Parts: sequence; structure tokens; C-alpha cells
Amino acid sequence: MHQDVEKILVSEREISKLIKRIAGQINKDLKSEPLLVIIILKGSTPFAMDLIKNLDMPVEIDFMQVSSYGKSTASNGFINLKKDIEQDITGKNVLIVEDIIDSGHTLFKIKTLFESRNAKSVRICTLLDKPSRRVVDVKVDYVGKEIPDEFVVGYGLDYDEKYRNLSYVGVLKKEIYT
Ligand code: IMP
Ligand code: MG
Repeated sequence: MHQDVEKILVSEREISKLIKRIAGQINKDLKSEPLLVIIILKGSTPFAMDLIKNLDMPVEIDFMQVSSYGKSTASNGFINLKKDIEQDITGKNVLIVEDIIDSGHTLFKIKTLFESRNAKSVRICTLLDKPSRRVVDVKVDYVGKEIPDEFVVGYGLDYDEKYRNLSYVGVLKKEIYT
């Protein structure tokens, strides 16, 4: 375990089980309809890459990036679109893939953006959910695991751009960010 991590919250093995379960639900819901998977940079990349390997329908991917909160550990509600996807989503089934939903500001902003474009369907998937921190209500279709109100890193999740390469999700020691 990394020295800055207090405890492992979701092991590598559990992550792979969660992904298989979510992919199974998506395969069932979409049947064999093609799917455009939108990966929210940067934190969702390991999750999205493992998820798509378990999807059975024809899959396309694209990337979107919104402003993150850098050295802070909470969202301020001001979300900026830093990078948009590169295609017209008219008539497509879209799956937005996020690493974690906390206040809900980020996914609310992204969902609102997509609602104004004429997709056939828009679904949201997140590996982790901290429901106790929700400020804005957003409907999430697929959730890997609900976690308590603790700041976590690893498997894509960062603190100040670090720890994304850990193979598990762990609670960051408080002394690192306080
Ligand atoms: P929200 O807008 O408050 O829902 O926050 C969502 C974004 O904040 C996620 O995409 C993550 O990038 C980041 N975030 C929220 N909680 C954590 C955490 O515990 N560790 C690392 N990043 C987090
Ligand atoms: Mg993020």
C-alpha cells in the first residue's frame, strides 16, 4: 500500500467485479445497439478502459474535460468546459463515464450540456458515489459502489495530479491535504 494511503477502500479485485456487474447491466439495457462512450478526463480513464472491454455492442469512444478543483478537495460549483467531444451525437446512445460523483455539480453540468444536443439516449455511469455529499440532484443510471465521505485516490482518482496510477482506491491520509 502507498505510504500516503490510510486504508484500501476498494481493492483491485473488487473493482474488477464492480465493472463486470455494471457492464452486464449496460449490455442488458442496450442489447446490441451501438454506444458512444464519453470519458470524462482525466480520472475516469482507467475505469472507462476496463469497462469498455466488457461491453458487447459496437462501441465508439470520445473524451470530455471539465475544470477540476486542483489542490482543493471540494467542488466550488463553478464548472468550466475545458475540452468538448469531437462529434455530433444526434441519434446516438450516449454513456457518460465518470470516476466519482460527490456534490453532483460536475455531472449536472455535463448532463445539461448533453440534453441540449439531440442524442437518442443519455445514460450516466460512475464507479464511485458519495451520496452524503450531494448538493445537486443528478440521476445516475449505473453506480459501482457507494462510499462514505472520505477523500479517496487511486485507479484514476487524484489529489493534485498524484496517485492516479494506484491499482486500488484508497483513503488519502488527512495530513497530506490539511
Ligand atoms: P462533484 O462535481 O463535486 O460531484 O465532483 C466530481 C469530481 O470531483 C470528480 O470528477 C472527481 O474528479 C472529483 N472528486 C470528488 N471526490 C473526490 C475524491 O474523493 N477523490 C478524488 N477526486 C474526487
Ligand atoms: Mg473528475
